Amino acid sequence: MKKIAIFLTISTFVFADVNGKDVFETYCWGCHHQTAVAFGPPFEQIASKRDANQIRAMITDPKTVSKVFGYKRNAMPAFKLKEDELQAITRYILSYKPKDTNQTKVK
Ligand code: HEC
Repeated sequence: MKKIAIFLTISTFVFADVNGKDVFETYCWGCHHQTAVAFGPPFEQIASKRDANQIRAMITDPKTVSKVFGYKRNAMPAFKLKEDELQAITRYILSYKPKDTNQTKVK
């Protein structure tokens, strides 16, 4: 019993990696799809023109960054994500970068 508890503790620690797809489904799915245009642009399109810093900036401060990106209006709400969630969703979006760039999809 004790061994199992220790194993579970260790594995939670090691595998506590946040999944980008989960973050996407929790916060973004209502307005963004991976490849299709929804209310917001598809991740594929975002990944083809933005880098990680731009994506992170947009998630945390869309009011300012949408202007920088050239949008006339800002319809995306700001999100207060934890650092690991921010990293996971940014990686997830960038995994949709069109093929020729050698990126592999993150599950
Ligand atoms: C309420 C709808 C809505 C939700 C929820 C939403 N977005 Fe957006 N998003 C938009 C819209 C609309 C735009 C276009 C710019 C604007 O209107 O602010 C956008 C733009 C963006 C952009 C910049 C697009 C570009 O031109 O590069 C990124 C990056 C982005 N969203 C990421 C996310 C992520 C990540 C989440 C989830 C954490 C999310 N969005 C949740 C509506 C939404």
